[in-house]
Amino acid sequence: QKDGYEHFMLKEIHEQPDALRHTISPRVKNGLPDWSGDGLPKDFFSRFERIQIVACGTAMHAGMIGKTIIEKLARIPVEVDIASEFRYRDPILTGNTLVIIVSQSGETADSLAALRLAKQMELSTLAIVNVAGSSIAREAEHVLYTFAGPEISVASTKAYSVQISLLYLIAFTLGQEKGLLSEEQVRVLTRQLFASAEAVRGALRLQERIEMSAKSLAGAEHLFFLGRGLDYALACEGSLKLKEVSYVHCEAYAAGELKHGTISLITEGVPVIALCTQTALLPKMLSNIKETTARGAKVFVIAKQGETISQDVADTVLLLDDFDDLFMPFPAVTVLQLIAYFTARQRGCDIDKPRNLAKSVTVE
Ligand code: F6R
Repeated sequence: QKDGYEHFMLKEIHEQPDALRHTISPRVKNGLPDWSGDGLPKDFFSRFERIQIVACGTAMHAGMIGKTIIEKLARIPVEVDIASEFRYRDPILTGNTLVIIVSQSGETADSLAALRLAKQMELSTLAIVNVAGSSIAREAEHVLYTFAGPEISVASTKAYSVQISLLYLIAFTLGQEKGLLSEEQVRVLTRQLFASAEAVRGALRLQERIEMSAKSLAGAEHLFFLGRGLDYALACEGSLKLKEVSYVHCEAYAAGELKHGTISLITEGVPVIALCTQTALLPKMLSNIKETTARGAKVFVIAKQGETISQDVADTVLLLDDFDDLFMPFPAVTVLQLIAYFTARQRGCDIDKPRNLAKSVTVE
């Protein structure tokens, strides 16, 4: 069942290129997004002026990527909320808001309650779900299934990648329907989305180097993930994954926020994983990294081939194949998942079933 892999988590990380293709292909016709197979009415997305994404954990982190991409390409405001917060904060939502619930299992109690609240408010609901026939899939007005196949490892990996792939396709569709993207631009973006599967393969080829690097992370007591923009959303996911499976305490920080308090925790030898996949933000990231190396941090940089990262700012540099900034979350999250996996393995943790955690959280 594990196909020769030592753990389901590693197997599922490696399944991502196929999961992506299976999820994207049915929604693309003649090189353009097409939702007819999902039963969405024509021009479904264009009627909305706001989007509210609601989810928990890793699925919520996928929503953070979705927010950035949709706002960038379609220029409509997107809010992302933790389901257990959303349902109790008496959210202000108007009729032209689309509520998107993201859930691998389709059974998460708070996400289901958030969906019910949105329906009570008579809002349009769209669920992005992996498990067919699950409660969220049954109750949402519209469902987009991700085709990741069963995810057995408690830590979610491939589900995140396919969830973001659908949020990208929604962004392209909205961008075109709002008149901000030409058909040709959407074609190019859709081709790049398909190419993200190949970019993930490129990241998987770094596995041995990541395994080596994880050896020096395994002894850490605290660790920081830093990033800006899409890299900040990725930092949140990388940090959750590492905590969850390796029990190393870590924090994700928007790199520019570091000096507003947290830098006091950076001392000699504290590992910092700096995500630098966004070329436009690289100079800012490098100056944040220098602030940490000056205080003795041991820095791991994840960047793209071709970027110059000098030896005096980073102890380890992992370079991913060059790819458009917009699509870097696909290979970058793969690296973060592998870092979590190999750190946990080095520490002898029960990787597929971390302590105190359940695959599907059906209690509030
Ligand atoms: C983390 C993880 C959890 C889930 C969260 C939501 O690796 O698996 O954070 O992402 O419990 O679960 P779903 O997506 O099933 O609603």
